[in-house]
Amino acid sequence: MLIAGNWKMFKTPSEAASFCRALRESIGDVGNVDVAVCPPYVALANAIAELAGSEISVYAQNVHWAENGAFTGEISTGMLAELGAAGSIVGHSERRQYFGETDETVAKRAKATIDAGMKVIACVGELESERDANETEAVLARQLAPIVSEIGVHERLVIAYEPVWAIGTGKTASPAQAEDAHAFIRSIIDVPILYGGSVKPDNAGELMSQPNVNGALVGGASLDVDSFVSLCAAAAVVA
Ligand code: PGA
Repeated sequence: MLIAGNWKMFKTPSEAASFCRALRESIGDVGNVDVAVCPPYVALANAIAELAGSEISVYAQNVHWAENGAFTGEISTGMLAELGAAGSIVGHSERRQYFGETDETVAKRAKATIDAGMKVIACVGELESERDANETEAVLARQLAPIVSEIGVHERLVIAYEPVWAIGTGKTASPAQAEDAHAFIRSIIDVPILYGGSVKPDNAGELMSQPNVNGALVGGASLDVDSFVSLCAAAAVVA
């Protein structure tokens, strides 16, 4: 089971360093749970330095597919690898909604990261209007198609199912809704599948005990050390 904290645009480099120092001290034995943090680019080096030699890995929140080039504002897999990042999230719904990310660019980013020997957490998920229109499965199938054709099942590929209506809203998918979506995703691509969307220490246990839920991508509740540690501990009970 993987619990990954997506910090989004929170924490400066020095805040990241103190968070990671505290996390390392307080995480304790989380058994079968792999723990990761995903700081903003400028805080990656500090997070990696503070967590060096620990079991906690560090991922970026996005990565470009080209090795280098005229892509202002983008970061390559080679740059992340040199820092010591384990991999990257790609295709977060905020990237899709606000920064023009498409199913195809998400798959290109994912493929380049896998090809660079790194790990990928590729995010998919439907809007509330799509769920209401019974389009959830069609949307998931469409988002997954280029990932399946570019990469397919791979040991370094993880999918995160994040219903957009549940992100940062406190409206978590019910365990049954999550399980249904995860089972559908697994019928398309059989890799570990994380749930994301308002995962908190008090709902993590039930969500993580669904048979097709293999971990969580956590936003808000990953920003506070105590809350992130309790969430990891709750996952460890059912892992
Ligand atoms: P949230 O965010 O836990 O704050 O809902 C999850 C995510 O966007 O990855």
